[in-house]
Amino acid sequence: MNTWKTTQHFLFTLLSFSAMAQNWERDFEVLAPRTNIYQLETKNFELQVNEGRKAALFYPVTISDLLIPYQPVKTFFESDANDPVRKILFDMARVVSPFKSMKDVFNWLGVHEFPNSPQDENPNPLPDLLATEKELPMGATLIHTENGEAMTFGCAACHASDLFGVKVLGLTNRFPRANEFFRQGKAYAPYVNSFLFKNLLKTTEGERLMMLKAKAATKWVGAKKPSVLGLDTSLAQVALSLAKREQDPYSTRTEHSARSTRPNKLETMVADSKPAVWWNVKYKNRWLSDGSIVAGNPVHTNFLWNEIGRGTDLKKLEVWMQENTHQIEALTTAVFATMPPRYEKFFGVDALDIEKAKRGQKHFVESCQKCHGVYEKGWDRPDASQLSSVHLIQNFKVTYHKKTPVIDVGTDPGRYLGMREFADELNKLQISINIKTLVEPQKGYVPPPLEGIWARWPYFHNNSIPNLCALLTPSSLRPKSYYSGKAVDKSRDFDQECVGYPLGDKTPDAWKKNADYFYDTQREGLSNSGHDQKIFIINGQEIYSQEQKLELIEFLKTL
Ligand code: HEC
Ligand code: HEC
Repeated sequence: MNTWKTTQHFLFTLLSFSAMAQNWERDFEVLAPRTNIYQLETKNFELQVNEGRKAALFYPVTISDLLIPYQPVKTFFESDANDPVRKILFDMARVVSPFKSMKDVFNWLGVHEFPNSPQDENPNPLPDLLATEKELPMGATLIHTENGEAMTFGCAACHASDLFGVKVLGLTNRFPRANEFFRQGKAYAPYVNSFLFKNLLKTTEGERLMMLKAKAATKWVGAKKPSVLGLDTSLAQVALSLAKREQDPYSTRTEHSARSTRPNKLETMVADSKPAVWWNVKYKNRWLSDGSIVAGNPVHTNFLWNEIGRGTDLKKLEVWMQENTHQIEALTTAVFATMPPRYEKFFGVDALDIEKAKRGQKHFVESCQKCHGVYEKGWDRPDASQLSSVHLIQNFKVTYHKKTPVIDVGTDPGRYLGMREFADELNKLQISINIKTLVEPQKGYVPPPLEGIWARWPYFHNNSIPNLCALLTPSSLRPKSYYSGKAVDKSRDFDQECVGYPLGDKTPDAWKKNADYFYDTQREGLSNSGHDQKIFIINGQEIYSQEQKLELIEFLKTL
């Protein structure tokens, strides 16, 4: 290598090292949104985003033990209904599951079908996929293993949603049953007999081994049913799974540790929260609703949590992470590049009253921006008079805190308190030390950036607020319960004035028939308290009239 080359090489290494190393340091200051986290040049950035989105749809970790043998499950569901073997199996399985087809299973899981065509409203276009790749829903993943084809679930199972028919990657799945899936799998695993399985379903020996491995892995999985459909208990799943392992640097799995589970408060205490949206991470330097992950790449942490919750050998995970830095970086690039869905793309620009929104902006500046960030609009620009309506309502510049704050505004404490029950164990893991992730329990929650807030109903980390009118109501007067439902029909399933679930008479009748979709704020962890005093109630008085609140909501719709 000549001197110039060496210098160039040195500079390049130095530059790329500094760009990557400091990004995840504790207290690293976010001076501008990190949409392009690794500062890639345009072409490469687009390629990485595309590849990363694939990794979000198809789970890349191949070393999990908890993999489902796909062909036998498919055979089971798709065999001729009159087949006597299937009849026997179905009768046996009735104890195990109420499902009649694979489609039933996926519906229950809450995962979404791929769209049939590209969708213009989609802020995060899906990668081009082969027809065969779109056969299973978003998040369901087939992995080719030495034991045959295996099925598992990836990020999109919790982090993709169907927004009026548009499949938005990075938007919270409103009704995920991932935790329930693990809980039920674990409960029924002891009843699965591998020889019966092999003989009746005519599986290969490899598939039988895969099934045995999965059955064994469930011994180190501690899962918990969420308090209500829509929330997630991954926090508890990680804590309760760690409680089934030894307390050494790799949380080794032993027969002894599986039998002598350490007690953990999260067995009973409620610390549920919803999966977060991905388009906020570019503004932040600490992660999760309570900002308790204060250092490290959040995508690394996600793999770690996901795998602890699947009963995986952490030494194997560590090797996988070292060998797959490229995939992890692509996924990280895609997560940080995620954009929010825009209101006008779904409802048309005429559905927004720009003058009203401008009046709302004044209230926002006065009462909200100190916590939620500054949103400069197209209409704030010097050249506003030359802009079209669509350009006027865009966020031309968003300025969020350099260091992500955590504030206790009196909302339900369960979720942040839950972190105390296993933070130490997580930090002690060798893998946490290696990936430089650090968890620190907090008091309060991050005031999230509010881009795409219209699409994020119901509100707060615990989904306790059905719409923005309720959010701007004093907590003692907020709805004590509400029915939730899927976002299918824009005029029926969404209240455009209040932004979020339609309440009272406007609630679709069908929603009231399914108890799973009922939210009761009186229950532990589901309280709708807080975020009123000192925000829009000053000295015991509400500071906004009904009309001013609607102006504020009009502004929020444009974010
Ligand atoms: C079982 C459901 C589930 C799966 C699967 C899942 N997540 Fe999450 N994710 C969550 C929940 C729940 C939260 C929020 C927890 C909290 O903050 O209280 C979250 C939070 C996050 C955050 C933090 C966002 C923020 O604003 O701080 C990121 C980033 C993230 N997930 C990425 C991923 C990636 C990448 C994957 C796949 C490797 C993944 N998640 C898989 C449920 C899931
Ligand atoms: C003192 C800081 C603070 C102020 C001021 C404040 N908020 Fe918040 N806000 C928060 C925090 C913290 C949360 C997260 C609460 C939780 O999830 O438990 C939050 C949550 C929200 C959410 C729900 C976000 C989501 O993704 O579910 C909305 C909407 C919101 N605030 C709007 C407003 C509006 C509008 C104002 C002004 C009237 C305002 N906030 C003023 C701190 C603040």
